[in-house]
Amino acid sequence: MNIVILAAGMGKRMRSALPKVLHPLAGKPLLQHVLDTARQLKPTRICIVYGHGGEAVLQQIKGDDLHWAKQEPQLGTGHAVQQAVPFLDDAQPTLILYGDVPLTRLSTLQTLTAQVSTAQMALLTVELDDPTGYGRIVRDANDTVQQIVEHKDATPAQRMLSEINTGIMVVPTAQLKRWLTRLSNNNAQGEYYLTDIVASAVAEGVTVATAAPQDEWETLGVNSRLQMAELERIYQNNLAEELLEQGVALADPARIDVRGTLTCGRDVFIDVNCVFEGEVVLSDGVQIAANCVIRNAHIDAGTQIAPFTHIDDARVGAGGKVGPFARLRPGTVLAEDVHIGNFVEVKNSAIAAHSKANHLAYVGDADVGSNVNIGAGTITCNYDGANKFRTTIEDDVFIGSDTQLVAPVRVGKGATLGAGTTLTKDAPAGKLTVSRTKQVTLENWQRPRKQDK
Ligand code: UD1
Ligand code: CA
Repeated sequence: MNIVILAAGMGKRMRSALPKVLHPLAGKPLLQHVLDTARQLKPTRICIVYGHGGEAVLQQIKGDDLHWAKQEPQLGTGHAVQQAVPFLDDAQPTLILYGDVPLTRLSTLQTLTAQVSTAQMALLTVELDDPTGYGRIVRDANDTVQQIVEHKDATPAQRMLSEINTGIMVVPTAQLKRWLTRLSNNNAQGEYYLTDIVASAVAEGVTVATAAPQDEWETLGVNSRLQMAELERIYQNNLAEELLEQGVALADPARIDVRGTLTCGRDVFIDVNCVFEGEVVLSDGVQIAANCVIRNAHIDAGTQIAPFTHIDDARVGAGGKVGPFARLRPGTVLAEDVHIGNFVEVKNSAIAAHSKANHLAYVGDADVGSNVNIGAGTITCNYDGANKFRTTIEDDVFIGSDTQLVAPVRVGKGATLGAGTTLTKDAPAGKLTVSRTKQVTLENWQRPRKQDK
């Protein structure tokens, strides 16, 4: 099969500098959604018709399997498909998709494409309560499709028809090429309508079959920010329902957003207002409290993520506790039963089992052993303004509050660092190291008083 994706439309109503088909739905460009579904049909060729300002499209949408046809100016959907003609293999039928219709199911397209032969084309149509603006499917007394009439060209009687053209169709290619050469722009919009090929098919005795999608939203396109937001909600709602069906507990299916892939084990609980981006895996029994943003992360069994936690490119071991208000940045690897508490930031660091940093700390570029206690206010000073250095903290270390570890530095196994220490040299194993000045009390000191004027 050949697949043509029409993506040249300007998308004026988006009022955006970004081409419409690059606007993200669930974190992924509209066109990428269409392309991902198209690829699952294992087509022999994919041709994307792009337009004015489309260089950004070429940069963002990649693939050796893609052929690009530029349409400039844009003279209608028929003219758009004409630009793809050189790329189409006559021996295969051609499926036409829209780059701004992102939610069509694979199964719907399979049902549609099963109906094409050299003697038959097929249209995806749907009955709408309000068909205003769409091309109407005109049938004869025997219910046989005769033509598609665009809304602006339709008679009042035709405008009463509620079956509309979704724009998605599959056509035998040699015939398509022939019919495209016959299009004229002698119509209400002065455009070359792809839909006019239907009358050509009928005239040549080629049957026009129709198929309907399972759900109406599969055929919805995006022309405005409002429609974009509506489709986003449909997508998220579908995904939330899938998660519930898989056994994931969602506090409110209307308040979760997944922009990527969320894979969950058994008895996972997700509270309200969480956002998942990229590839996220939550193993059995993981609990995510409210208002967390989690991106490209793997969270092992039984771990609890407390509210307002931000995780980006990190791995969290089993039985851990993270948050509230914690931040795990890229390269964080926490082993089992690690506790990261409020206002603790961890970056590019490995923390071994049973270690804790419960309050107000920065652990960056560090290798932390097991059973380590990192006190409140501890900071790894990993950056000298030009270069970054690593801090090594061995097993069973106790770091007192408000300690600065000036990297590169090593704290030996079982060492204790006194509160307030600024560690600039390695601390030996098993001993107390402290860099504080001795405490003094001035016996006769008086607090200054305001002088009488
Ligand atoms: C088209 C159909 C109409 C159908 C409707 C469904 C025609 C003549 N009409 O109408 O029957 O009910 O879609 O939404 O086909 N595009 C290009 N180049 C162009 C024009 C359009 O690439 O010159 C692309 C657009 O980016 C879009 C798609 O084709 O992805 C449809 O274009 P749009 O202007 O939305 O089609 P309508 O005229 O609304
Ligand atoms: Ca449209």
